[in-house]
Amino acid sequence: MRKKIAAGNWKMNGRKLSLSEVYAMAGAEIENCEVIICPPATLIPDLLVSVQGSNLQIGGQNCHHEAEGAYTGEISANMLRDIGVTHVILGHSERREYFGESDELIAQKITRAHEQGLVAILCIGETLAEREAGQAIDIVTSQLINSLPKSANAENTIIAYEPVWAIGTGKVPSNADIEEMHAAIRAHIPHDSEAMRVLYGGSVKPTNAMEIFALNNVDGGLVGGASLKAEDFLPIIAAAEQLSQE
Ligand code: PGA
Repeated sequence: MRKKIAAGNWKMNGRKLSLSEVYAMAGAEIENCEVIICPPATLIPDLLVSVQGSNLQIGGQNCHHEAEGAYTGEISANMLRDIGVTHVILGHSERREYFGESDELIAQKITRAHEQGLVAILCIGETLAEREAGQAIDIVTSQLINSLPKSANAENTIIAYEPVWAIGTGKVPSNADIEEMHAAIRAHIPHDSEAMRVLYGGSVKPTNAMEIFALNNVDGGLVGGASLKAEDFLPIIAAAEQLSQE
């Protein structure tokens, strides 16, 4: 059985004050599921200390596609690995949209993350216009095929399906649409498709996490807004844990 995952993407949010939230999250029962928090880079060192002794893991939100060098303002996969980070989100729709990241660039970043022993969380998802035009499955499976490097396997890669129109909007696709998309994604994963985790992301909340995480081919969630506060993220962790015990 695939272990469920609750992953938190803090985006450009979080201050030193947020460490108290992480202490509270580190108290969660995390025996059968996996929980990963991806704070902004400034908080990674402090969070690594806060989660010591717990099963919480820490991820980055991006890395550069080159190993090192003259890239002012950038962070390499090796730098993340060096301080104890285990995961990195790559290809988030906000990076694709605001920073012009292409599938090809994302594939290079994932390759670099794999070389450094990081688990890549690859995000894919369609816009509202693409869904309304009936192209959602074609767009998402093409992003998957073109962003996933040959090195990807179930140990070093997690997929996150995040419809762009569901991110931060409170809108969520129907259960049938989520299942349809997750089945299509799994069918297009070139290796290890049965074992690879495919998460859903976009307005996951304490109130809908259990229902969404229990859907066919859904192995947990990538959570933005509701991962910032322990009061919201703890019930989401509990849903992942409970479903992993069944
Ligand atoms: P949201 O963001 O949970 O705030 O909708 C999800 C994401 O962008 O990863």
